[in-house]
Amino acid sequence: MASDNRKQAVSARVERWVRTDVQALKAYHVPAIEEHVIKLDAMENPYHWPSAMQQAWLDALQQIHVNRYPDADCSQLKQAFREAFHIAEDYELLFGNGSDELIQLLAMAVAGPKRTILAPEPSFVMYKMIAQFLQMNYVGIPLGTDFSLDVSAMLKAIETHNPALIFLAQPNNPTGNVFGEEKIRRIIEAASGLVVIDEAYTAFSSSDGYSLLADYSNVVIMRTLSKVGLAGLRLGYLIGHPGWLEEVNKLRLPYNINVLTQASTAFALQHVDELFKQTAQICADRELLKERLSAFDNLHVWPSEANFLLCRTLEHDAAEIQRLLLARGVLIKSLHGSHPLLNNCLRITVGTPEENEVLLRELAALLAS
Ligand SMILES: Cc1ncc(COP(=O)(O)O)c(C=O)c1O
Repeated sequence: MASDNRKQAVSARVERWVRTDVQALKAYHVPAIEEHVIKLDAMENPYHWPSAMQQAWLDALQQIHVNRYPDADCSQLKQAFREAFHIAEDYELLFGNGSDELIQLLAMAVAGPKRTILAPEPSFVMYKMIAQFLQMNYVGIPLGTDFSLDVSAMLKAIETHNPALIFLAQPNNPTGNVFGEEKIRRIIEAASGLVVIDEAYTAFSSSDGYSLLADYSNVVIMRTLSKVGLAGLRLGYLIGHPGWLEEVNKLRLPYNINVLTQASTAFALQHVDELFKQTAQICADRELLKERLSAFDNLHVWPSEANFLLCRTLEHDAAEIQRLLLARGVLIKSLHGSHPLLNNCLRITVGTPEENEVLLRELAALLAS
């Protein structure tokens, strides 16, 4: 009884004080995963490090003092990134607790009641969510039916809304394609605000926007280590002109990158060839998987430059296929209902060859019925 009263009192205060638009939101849902499930839903790298590398990493972690705050500026880590990814001294680096945090910081830096975030749709859901969190105006411009960027619609939206921030994911999630540099340049040239080239999947693609930094003052490049095997460490990074990054940095909470993440990513970058080896394997397996999936005549598979494949079921309810596949021990993502262009679409992360075989076997059984 007492606890019922307390609950009611809490509800009343929440209703009174929490922003009504926040009360109307739904928290980002991540499904709880059973141990034995083959997880092909979240664009993770399925590989562990070789055992000698694992051991060397554990040895390195013994030098870490968890009683001390981390290096707030990540100075050593910055140097490791500069060397591993050949980042010129002309540009600054800024780390986030995943690139999710960087999206939030970028948006906070430009937020205002009449400020707009623009992105093509469907794309990474966090752009819209963060615009909502910050009570910004969000404008989503539909991609073409082949998922190409509708440049004239984007240019029109730039003229109408004068967006403070434009997000272009290249390759795009969940469609897996690249929009192409020429189109991206036209957007950057038309925009007065900042254009963020989100290269979360750059390791699986030949596209690379780094050289855009030399040509434009309104571009930053955003990348992450999540897709190359370090999703659990949460490390995203921005590369950009110091003027932009110095402002964004003011909004970063101190110590956002913890000691274990700093030490582990610095260690991983010393073994960057191993990370590249794994991504090359994933790219080769993606092509094999695409070929095998394309052989199902009731499934359409799009080409991909990322570590996942987007497919459409032509005779089945995709959400139902996703549920039945999970019951058979394979978790993929159903995108049905998330955007009109994604009707009956499924997104499948490329797993190990063994995992891909299980997926193909179970999916074959479901698509045959
Ligand atoms: C396009 C894109 N950008 C950014 C992210 C966020 O990555 P993280 O926060 O793990 O660095 C994702 C994750 O799926 C993504 O697909």
